[in-house]
Amino acid sequence: MSNRTFTMIKPDAMRNGHAGAILDQIIKAGFRVVALKQTKLSLDRAGEFYAVHKERPFYGELTEFMSSGVIIAAILEKDNAVADFRKLIGATNPAQAEEGTIRKNFATSVGENAVHGSDSDENAKIEGDFFFSGLEQF
Ligand code: RTP
Ligand code: MG
Repeated sequence: MSNRTFTMIKPDAMRNGHAGAILDQIIKAGFRVVALKQTKLSLDRAGEFYAVHKERPFYGELTEFMSSGVIIAAILEKDNAVADFRKLIGATNPAQAEEGTIRKNFATSVGENAVHGSDSDENAKIEGDFFFSGLEQF
């Protein structure tokens, strides 16, 4: 099992000034930052990143939102990284997220939910490689 996951701080959280607090919560939860950058997705690149959701009704809304402003992309390391990070961020819909989770603390809606977290080791690797070259991952 891999010990890495991939995250993005989404445009809503960036605009609302929550990036610092979110990174603080991630690091205090025991994750090491392997790679990190602030960047912006074009609509095409957001579509490529979320290609698995192409047939879903929210795909257009999702890709427009994810390309609407700057994001922070990061690879994180910890034992059991994928599952532990999903637990730290909480449910997709912040209304259903547990108290103390990042989405409960910082998200506004199911569409604008502050952070992304990979859902499998395989996707964590694919998503990290989407933003970072091998030389940037240490
Ligand atoms: P993420 O990939 O961003 O970590 O979120 P997730 O696994 O919890 O949720 P997923 O099913 O992968 O959906 C990806 C993102 O699409 C947006 N979404 N909108 N309007 C809606 O009903 C809806 N459903 C999902 C969310 O921003 C979600 O994080
Ligand atoms: Mg997902």
